[in-house]
Amino acid sequence: MAIMDTSTGPDVSTAAVAVAVAAVMVSTLLWVALVQLVWRPYAAARAFGRQGIRGPAYRFLAGNIGEANAMRAAATALDRRSHDIIPRVLPHYHAWMSRYGKVFVSWTGPIPALCVGDYAMAKEILADRTGAYGKPDPGAAILALFGNGLVFLDGDDWARHRRVVHPAFAMDKLKTMTGTMAACAREMIRAWEARAAANNPSGEIEIEVGNQFQELTADVISHTAFGSSYLQGKEVFEAQRELQAIAMAALYSIRIPGIQYIPTKSNVRRRRLEKKVRGTLMAMIHERQAAVAKEGKGYGNDLLGLMLEANVAMCGGGNGARRMTMDEIVDECKTFFFAGHDTTSHLLTWAMFLLGTHLDWQDRVREEVLRECGGEALPDGDVLGKLKLVTMVLYETLRLYSPVSMLVRMVTADANLSGIHVPKGTLAMIPVAILHRDVDAWGDDAGEFNPLRFRGGVNKAAAHAGALLAFSLGHRSCIGQDFALLEAKAMLAMILRRFAFEVSPEYVHAPLDFLTMQPQCGLPMVLKLLD
Ligand code: HEM
Ligand SMILES: *[C@@H]1O[C@H](CO)[C@@H](O)[C@H](O)[C@H]1NC(C)=O
Repeated sequence: MAIMDTSTGPDVSTAAVAVAVAAVMVSTLLWVALVQLVWRPYAAARAFGRQGIRGPAYRFLAGNIGEANAMRAAATALDRRSHDIIPRVLPHYHAWMSRYGKVFVSWTGPIPALCVGDYAMAKEILADRTGAYGKPDPGAAILALFGNGLVFLDGDDWARHRRVVHPAFAMDKLKTMTGTMAACAREMIRAWEARAAANNPSGEIEIEVGNQFQELTADVISHTAFGSSYLQGKEVFEAQRELQAIAMAALYSIRIPGIQYIPTKSNVRRRRLEKKVRGTLMAMIHERQAAVAKEGKGYGNDLLGLMLEANVAMCGGGNGARRMTMDEIVDECKTFFFAGHDTTSHLLTWAMFLLGTHLDWQDRVREEVLRECGGEALPDGDVLGKLKLVTMVLYETLRLYSPVSMLVRMVTADANLSGIHVPKGTLAMIPVAILHRDVDAWGDDAGEFNPLRFRGGVNKAAAHAGALLAFSLGHRSCIGQDFALLEAKAMLAMILRRFAFEVSPEYVHAPLDFLTMQPQCGLPMVLKLLD
């Protein structure tokens, strides 16, 4: 009968089609969910189990994220003489490693995460150039902070960007930047001196130095990499700080596909901040372009100048090289703003903490600083090269309080890792902070502050070369490591020659991995002006 009823026919069939389509969609989604959330984790756990690699059980959808968060939340503060920070900073890894060994598998949501607590395996991953261990998809929140720049690119895009950026980090270029670094530090130190002088007769002041170093290193990167004004730098800096908190919250929660498009409060805020950072960076770029057009000079030797220059050179060059788009330049600027200051500030903070709790070492390095660069002159690159003890202290700081505590890779094709078959789609987690305390590599005093272990250089400090992973190793290692060390040396030298300092009694020793490792409640220090 329905066949006869031509008036309702089309409606019925449209509805039927819609129902059928919906049914197919729902069952496809269910199928995909079943495969992703049940079958894959089950198969991966079995594949690892057969090879003797165990770990905490997979829980539907959330994996071990809940347990990890609970353990992190329960972590308490440490004695300030203790550098045994793993039970606090990576409590879940601490617990699982003692139960399942140096190599185990846990679950980041439905994704298997292989902990590679073994130097030989870690080095094999970092040395790989086949692309089998790529950068993981960082997600919208982390990308908003870092930009899709060098840190997260892979393959040809990475090679193209690295080629453009590389010349800015040649040692001769860096040495010309030390003047700018030292000038930024002089501003901060003058403000401290004024406060100390006003505080007669003791000349003592208490300062939370963590924040001071964040601002200082942001100021340095604004000036050296972008030649930009303090205000522009400050705008990016403040927006990125808030983006860091948003990124951190996202990192510790279950990642549901598409969730970044839902207008939640934090997504809306993230978008607004992204727009603001982009606006400021575009203004900076346009200023530079306008100056070039007006004065007919080159783009300049700083990072921004080199990127713009390379962009113009490749434009219509016909050499097959693709130029960087404006979006790529903006992303790379974000990367350098964040990667270029946050880590370095924490290195300085922890170095001050260690020197403020090991006063014998503070005296030793001050003696060296006064010998090599006493007086008022700003230290230059050559002088900084002579500060051997300061360098050892910085390496030892990077070992015990590595600002980056974990290196992460995504296994992009089934891999053979030192004989272990690792299925595609596994995360490889290299726990830098744990490896830095490995007694087989560093000796029985691995838990102690002993800068002298570095007296033969960075590669002679452990049983094998390449044990210090603070800047990673190989072709994807930190492009800014010389920059960071030069900056940290200049800052420390300038502080040491003007102030004696101790960690304040108020300080709480609570290192926290907030994307980068930092003291949870800052680092209050008591500084005394030297005469
Ligand atoms: C103490 C200071 C610093 C530490 C501890 C540090 C640490 C690291 C680490 C561990 C990586 C490798 C990340 C990975 O493979 O997943 C890295 C990469 C990188 N860092 Fe640094 N960094 C520091 C300072 C800087 C500075 C000052 C800059 C820029 C001015 C910078 C720019 C970069 C860039 C662009 C990459 C990506 C390199 C690539 O993949 O080609 N870093 N850094
Ligand atoms: C995996 O690599 C090891 C050396 O690391 C080698 O001895 C072994 O034969 C390889 N296994 C396979 C299946 O390729």
